[in-house]
Amino acid sequence: MTRHLLRDDDLSPAEQREVLDLAKRMKADRWGAQPLAGPQTVAVIFDKSSTRTRVSFAVGIADLGGSPLIISTANSQLGGKETPSDTARVLERMVSAIVWRTYAQAGLDEMAAGTRVPVINALSDDFHPCQLLADLLTIEEHKGRLAGLTVAFVGDGADNMVHSYLLAGATAGMHVRIGHPERYAPDPKIVDDARRIAEGTGGSVTLEHDPTAAVRGADVVVTDTWVSMGREEEKEQRVAALAAYKVTPALMAEAAPDAVFLHCLPADRGYEVEPEVIDGPQSVIWDEAENRLHAQKALLTWLLARA
Ligand code: CP
Ligand code: NVA
Repeated sequence: MTRHLLRDDDLSPAEQREVLDLAKRMKADRWGAQPLAGPQTVAVIFDKSSTRTRVSFAVGIADLGGSPLIISTANSQLGGKETPSDTARVLERMVSAIVWRTYAQAGLDEMAAGTRVPVINALSDDFHPCQLLADLLTIEEHKGRLAGLTVAFVGDGADNMVHSYLLAGATAGMHVRIGHPERYAPDPKIVDDARRIAEGTGGSVTLEHDPTAAVRGADVVVTDTWVSMGREEEKEQRVAALAAYKVTPALMAEAAPDAVFLHCLPADRGYEVEPEVIDGPQSVIWDEAENRLHAQKALLTWLLARA
């Protein structure tokens, strides 16, 4: 059966490990594997803006011997005139995989149900699983392991990155702490799913309203924009509600002395994070951005081998 990556728990703990190990090998030998030779085409569709995702998929597909077809929804029939399911039926006749950045998770579910080629979530309102593969790869490179580490996400608790950290972090056996205001909390169903996964991996999930308690002793500190794509009109109320959750040098000092800082980018310096942190010695954001390339090449290779 065709495999997809629509949310982070589509990969079991053993499968996540396989993809991360493959990513390490592919990073060490960038042009050593050409599973898309032909060239086969991969469609990469954007309903929302992107720099990293667009470039890393385009370059990664070319590295793998394939040809990327970048589609903006604004200039296509998808997103108004044609359903995800009909779009998938057309694309699968010509492309080897579909990568889609969109709003509602339901659209991705419909796209995947309607096709025999792998569908990859390149960010939805609910999840960002490609980013998590890159983040886990980066954390492992810097800390030497994942299982048993404590990762603290501080900020907008209803964010797609939070949901992905909950699922992917639990899958990796990490202790995932979310520091968030009551108003912006993770989806309780996803928290339950993450807790179930953590029971099997030795990880754990903790929700905290106190940002200092969330970060205390953590090995990894993460944040994300307070104003995700599609939420621009809520900026004023979000900035007010999230002000106490800014990652400042003082908050970072509560983490373990050798903690690393991650941010998927783009960042709003002075809002969710102070420049002294994101541009400081504990920040690994540029490795994290580069690792989108290696992680997604491994993911595509892994999914195509099972298609
Ligand atoms: N982190 C991330 O997904 O960046 P882009 O929005 O630039 O793709
Ligand atoms: N949470 C952010 C991530 C951007 C890569 C957003 O959805 O806009």
